[in-house]
Amino acid sequence: MKKIRSLMLVVLSLVVLFSLAACGSSKTNSEKAGKGATAENGIQELTIKIAHVVAENTPKHQGALKMKEVIEAESGGKIKVQIYPNSSLFGDKDEYQNLVANNVQFILPDMMKLVGNDEGFNMESMPFIFEDDAQSIAFWDGEKGKEIFHRLEKDGVLGLVMWPNGGKHITNNVRPIKSPKDLAGLKLRTQGGQLLESMYEELGAGSATIPFGELYTALQQGTVDGQENTLSNIQSKKFDEVQKYMTIMNHTRVDYVLLTNTKFWNGLNNETKAIVQKGIDEGTEVAREFAIKLNDQALEKIKENGNTEIYVLSEAEIAEFKKALEPVYNEYKEKIGADIIEAAEGK
Ligand code: LMR
Repeated sequence: MKKIRSLMLVVLSLVVLFSLAACGSSKTNSEKAGKGATAENGIQELTIKIAHVVAENTPKHQGALKMKEVIEAESGGKIKVQIYPNSSLFGDKDEYQNLVANNVQFILPDMMKLVGNDEGFNMESMPFIFEDDAQSIAFWDGEKGKEIFHRLEKDGVLGLVMWPNGGKHITNNVRPIKSPKDLAGLKLRTQGGQLLESMYEELGAGSATIPFGELYTALQQGTVDGQENTLSNIQSKKFDEVQKYMTIMNHTRVDYVLLTNTKFWNGLNNETKAIVQKGIDEGTEVAREFAIKLNDQALEKIKENGNTEIYVLSEAEIAEFKKALEPVYNEYKEKIGADIIEAAEGK
């Protein structure tokens, strides 16, 4: 009997102990919910850095400004967004590795600066493949474009969406470029990558990779004779002050991919991620809308400044360049993949 009583006592104390423990854990859960921002719920308090290399009066910066405005407003100030233009935080040489290290949360590199990470980004410079922003946007928003973005996941980087800038045009200080032979002997700066190097080699010119932040000085000091870029990049960085000739060619493009750090992105809870995504969507809309507008305005300003003689290639002259660049096109069609090229060409 004594044994049974002590057994019952043990069982009773165990029941009391268990129910106390249960109360304690439910209190902890409700305390958590009351705290607001945790990894699971509530808007997380964050400072997000966006770094890029171009000036303020560009589609990239205007899109970034919209991202900042939307994210800060929608989060009631809990998320702060700092934008660093003009290579003021990181430049061409170090922005990618600093994204991988999560020292910056968003960068928007010209895709040619990613060809060392994946050959598919050469698409941007396939000669004369994209006629306008709409064709390029359709490709990068499509299945094949996204497939190329996803290849950066091996670095812990997420490719989110493409922002356009526009077609590139050649400027130089030696002579007007009207046909492939006019490039013979010139040295041009490129954004980098074997494709652009081969392209100029095919046209009898030399090339050098120079970071965007050092380009004005390189042109001014004659380190290179010229370069290829969009009108808004040329005008916002005042390259027309130090370049005598410009040929409107549209032979290659500047397009960007918005990149983020995968760990940073996965660390956002659903509520926070939805706010950041809204900022990205609206920023993308602004960048896409401003690209054409800013390039058109830049052309007018370059004309007004009057330092640079402007030549527009005729259809026949474009055909001559296309023919001269056929070997590069064929080589890279094989390297990038015919299925990808055909998707871009709408075949
Ligand atoms: C350049 O280096 O010429 C451009 O890629 C800069 C940019 O980001 O538009």
